[in-house]
Amino acid sequence: FIKKIVYYEETDSTNIRAKKLAEEGAPDGTLVVTDFQNAGRGRRGRMWVSPSGTGIFMSLILRPDILPSSASMLTLVAALAVYDGIKETTGLETVIKWPNDIVAEGKKLCGILTEMSAELEGIHYVVTGIGINANMTGFPEEVGESATSLRILTGGPVRRSRLIAVVMKAYEGYYVKFKSCGSLAGLMDVYNEHMANLGREVKVLDPAGAYTGKALGIDEKGELIVEKADGKVVRVVSGEVSVRGI
Ligand code: BTN
Repeated sequence: FIKKIVYYEETDSTNIRAKKLAEEGAPDGTLVVTDFQNAGRGRRGRMWVSPSGTGIFMSLILRPDILPSSASMLTLVAALAVYDGIKETTGLETVIKWPNDIVAEGKKLCGILTEMSAELEGIHYVVTGIGINANMTGFPEEVGESATSLRILTGGPVRRSRLIAVVMKAYEGYYVKFKSCGSLAGLMDVYNEHMANLGREVKVLDPAGAYTGKALGIDEKGELIVEKADGKVVRVVSGEVSVRGI
């Protein structure tokens, strides 16, 4: 599944690097890994704290034969793989905060950022960036109380190379299932099992107006099904809105 691993001691962002390599023809299954990102990026243009030698910062280049509208599903596939990887290597039980944050004790352990290059008919490549807070012992003030690390939670250091290998192995299994269904149909039950928001009241921050409702789970497209207070059921598309627990 992983055909090539490209390692940098330091880089700007593995997502930026992976996109450049993909443009230059890097094959499907190329994994870009670094020890230190000097310009790590999160969703919505936020920065991603990437101190040297402590975290996992990696980006996977894939060239699946899917429609551009399906690419965001790969972020949910990655969330499942990280859930499994953390569980298998540390025993830690985490939850997935839809669409793709891994959280423990209410604090963020991992973030995922998927980007793609596509035409209407198909995808040139998808880059899924995964940042796991592995061995950080603390976080800068601007991140504050919202983040934690595996080391903080388990009390001991994590072997990052093993965690990367286990996450990628898990990713492969889920990816094969995703490709055979062409959707998350075969994965939505397991995703919903691990989902933090399930059955909970959530606040949907839609640019057209925020509303609250109960999260009923994801569907086969990875959209969040929300029952509004008036009983109406709506589907929330990842990337367009953010969801907060209330
Ligand atoms: C988020 O939750 O906002 C997404 C964070 C994604 C961080 C990872 S770290 C590896 C890859 N390179 C980046 O610059 N970002 C992603």
